[in-house]
Amino acid sequence: MQWKYLALALLVERALGQGGTFPGNITIPPMLRFQCSQLVVERLDPLVNPGLIGSPHIHQIVGGNSFNASMDPATHDLVKDSTCTSCTFADDFSNYWTAVLYFKARNGTFKRVPQIPNLMLNGTGGITVYYIAQTVAPSNVTAFKPGFRMLVGDAAATNKQEQRKTCHRCMPKDGENLWLNCASPDSQELPTAPCAGGIRSVITFPTCWDGKNLDSPDHKSHIAYATGAGATDVGPTGVCPSSHPVVIPQVMYEVVWDTREFNDKSIWPADGSQPFVWSTGDSEGYSQHGDYVFGWKDDSLQKAMDNRCTGDACPGTMKTQTTEEALKCTVPQTVNQDLEGWLTELPGGDLPH
Ligand SMILES: *[C@@H]1O[C@H](CO)[C@@H](O)[C@H](O)[C@H]1NC(C)=O
Ligand SMILES: *[C@@H]1O[C@H](CO)[C@@H](O)[C@H](O)[C@H]1NC(C)=O
Ligand SMILES: *[C@@H]1O[C@H](CO)[C@@H](O)[C@H](O)[C@H]1NC(C)=O
Ligand SMILES: *[C@@H]1O[C@H](CO)[C@@H](O)[C@H](O)[C@H]1NC(C)=O
Ligand SMILES: *[C@@H]1O[C@H](CO)[C@@H](O)[C@H](O)[C@H]1NC(C)=O
Repeated sequence: MQWKYLALALLVERALGQGGTFPGNITIPPMLRFQCSQLVVERLDPLVNPGLIGSPHIHQIVGGNSFNASMDPATHDLVKDSTCTSCTFADDFSNYWTAVLYFKARNGTFKRVPQIPNLMLNGTGGITVYYIAQTVAPSNVTAFKPGFRMLVGDAAATNKQEQRKTCHRCMPKDGENLWLNCASPDSQELPTAPCAGGIRSVITFPTCWDGKNLDSPDHKSHIAYATGAGATDVGPTGVCPSSHPVVIPQVMYEVVWDTREFNDKSIWPADGSQPFVWSTGDSEGYSQHGDYVFGWKDDSLQKAMDNRCTGDACPGTMKTQTTEEALKCTVPQTVNQDLEGWLTELPGGDLPH
């Protein structure tokens, strides 16, 4: 299976309701793919800066409304403490978050880039979330346990990363580009030319777990990427290292940044460089990162994986809610921050980095 067939897969999935083998012997793993609308855009990071009101950079957050600054893993129960979720799968109270993209004007002020829902999905802003199972049945992936957390990417990164885990796709005006996710011409760097359909940011999590630790000091050591043949294919493929033998679902985020209102090159920097900057202050693109705190109700995620659920519905296995209901789930900002104006500095820009 190659990523370039994913768009096709997503169309076919509508008819078949699960992964399978399609004309040309293209094999698609079963995968949940659903929209989680914006819960809040906020300077909190309960994973990396627990308890800190006013994290060094701003994030966009989706999922269950128990999200807050502390989320102490010993006491915080995302399922019990949430009363709603901004995701369309009604039993998913997990939280997902990423950095925020800004446009930097010639006069040096910053404007937040709005987000739009991904292809074939509805909602407002937010993240398209994937959970991908193994291609070959039975799907032996082990769903996450309560308290599980993880992080991909590095907010301080200033160089190209070894693994293709975060990247940018310059989207065409209509529809999908049929090429391998995170392979050329996708890039770890932000695109250098205007993108007619916006910029899609992709974050891919590892598929191997040590089987013991729900988290680790760097939020990464308890998980690992697979290696060997197929390791860069979609889904939990390749071989897990013996230190991290348990195969977990592949979590992936896609965030579509609607850069269209900024695509006029006459407002781009006069030196020809590109004008977008992550909320970390990074205009290269390497600092994009994704945070994950597991919060599915009971064994609903395991069931979805076992039943090879695909797409944004799985009748009989998974409870869904409408986009309208998901949109009602928001939380107020803790740190008051202007999200719409032209800012003289990035949120948190007054803090030492
Ligand atoms: C698809 O797989 C079948 C069975 O392995 C094989 O007979 C057929 O030639 C393959 N078709 C293509 C287009 O590769
Ligand atoms: C976060 O939520 C938990 C559970 O609802 C609560 O006990 C805790 O006090 C909250 N923390 C903050 C900083 O709001
Ligand atoms: C800076 O530039 C932006 C975009 O051109 C404009 O909307 C804004 O008013 C300008 N701000 C100032 C203080 O000149
Ligand atoms: C998205 O919106 C379209 C058009 O209104 C509708 O046909 C479709 O059912 C919606 N999908 C979801 C998952 O809400
Ligand atoms: C799943 O587990 C069963 C039983 O251990 C095994 O026979 C099968 O090969 C496994 N499937 C995959 C895709 O690893």
